[in-house]
Amino acid sequence: MARVFSGIQPSGELHLGNLLGALVNWVNHQKSHDAVYCIVDLHALTLPKRPEELRENSLKLAQLLIAVGLDPDKSILFMQSHVPEHSQLAWLMECTVSFGELNRMTAFKDKSGRNEFISGGLFTYPALQAADILLYDTDLVPVGDDQRQHIEITRDIAERFNSRFGNTFVVPKHVIPPAGARIMDLQHPDRKMSKSETSPAGTISVLEDHDSITKKIKRAVTDSDGEIRFDSNLKPGVSNLLSILAAATSSTPEEVATGYSRYGDLKIDTAEAVIELLRPIQVKFRELESDPAETNRLLKLGSSKAREISSVTLERAMTKIGLLNA
Ligand code: AMP
Ligand code: TRP
Repeated sequence: MARVFSGIQPSGELHLGNLLGALVNWVNHQKSHDAVYCIVDLHALTLPKRPEELRENSLKLAQLLIAVGLDPDKSILFMQSHVPEHSQLAWLMECTVSFGELNRMTAFKDKSGRNEFISGGLFTYPALQAADILLYDTDLVPVGDDQRQHIEITRDIAERFNSRFGNTFVVPKHVIPPAGARIMDLQHPDRKMSKSETSPAGTISVLEDHDSITKKIKRAVTDSDGEIRFDSNLKPGVSNLLSILAAATSSTPEEVATGYSRYGDLKIDTAEAVIELLRPIQVKFRELESDPAETNRLLKLGSSKAREISSVTLERAMTKIGLLNA
C-alpha cells in the first residue's frame, strides 16, 4: 500500500481553505493508503508563540482533525515534537540543502517580510519539513497548492542525499486537489484564505456559527459584470465561490457554474453547502472537546506508532552519512 504523509501547523483555528485544500484529501486517502498525519508543533515555533497558546492550539487541532474525519484507528496521528527523530533528521537535511535553495523559498520571503523577529528556524523550515516527509518513506504528500515549492525542495534534498550516500530515501510526490486547491479570502479574492491574515470577514473558520457563515458569504466580494463563469484571473471573487461550492459538493467549478445566473443564488447555495459540510464536524468537535484526556491518549499511541517507522529511517540515514557504523 502506498504511504501518504502530511502535516499541519497548530497556529490558530482551521479554516475552510485548510479543510477543502488539504484535509478532505487527507480523510479520503486513509481509506486506500497507509496514512500518517502530523501536527507540526516544531514548525509552529518558527514564529514566536506563547507556551499556553501553543499547548492549547495543538490539542484543539488534534480534536479538529479527528472531528473532520481522521480516524486514529485507520491512520497514524501524532505530534511532531513527541517523535524526536524529526529534529534529528532535520539537522542532516539542513546540511544537505544549500543556503541558496533555502533563500529561494517564497514562504520565507513572505513570512520574514511580515514579522518583526525572524528566527533561524523560519529560514531552515523546509529542511525540517523534508525530514517529516522522508522519515516515513512517503510516496504521496496531500497538500494545498501553496506547498508545491516545499515538496519540490524535499524531492531535491532526497535525490541529492541518495546520489551522495546511496539509496536512502523514497522520493515523494505531491497531491493537490483539483477543486479547493486554493481557496481565496472572501473580501480579498486575490489572496488566499489564511489564518494568519487579519481578515476576519474574509475567512471562514471550521467552527464558525451558521449565521456568521451566511453573512460572510453574502458579503463576499464579486464583480459588476453579472456573469457566472469560472475564470480566476478575470473573475476572482465569483470563481472563489464556485470553487468553494464545487469542493463542498464534490463537483467542479465549471460544472456548478452552469446551474446559476444570479450572484445572489450562488451565494445562498454556497452558504448552505458550507453549513452542511461543517455541521457534523462541529458536533463531533464539541464531543471531543469535553474529553481532552482521550485525545492525549490517542496522540500518545500515534507517537509510538510513528517512532516505529521513523527510527528505522533515521538509523539508515545516520549509517549512510557516516555517523553510525555500517
Ligand atoms: P497551513 O494552515 O498554512 O498550515 O496549511 C495547512 C494545509 O492547508 C496545507 O496543506 C495548505 O496547503 C492548505 N491550505 C492553507 N490555506 C489554504 C487555502 N487558502 N486554500 C487551499 N489550501 C490551503
Ligand atoms: N509547511 C506546511 C504548511 O504550512 C506544514 C508541513 C510541515 C507539512 N511539514 C509537512 C506539510 C510535511 C506536508 C508534509 O502547510
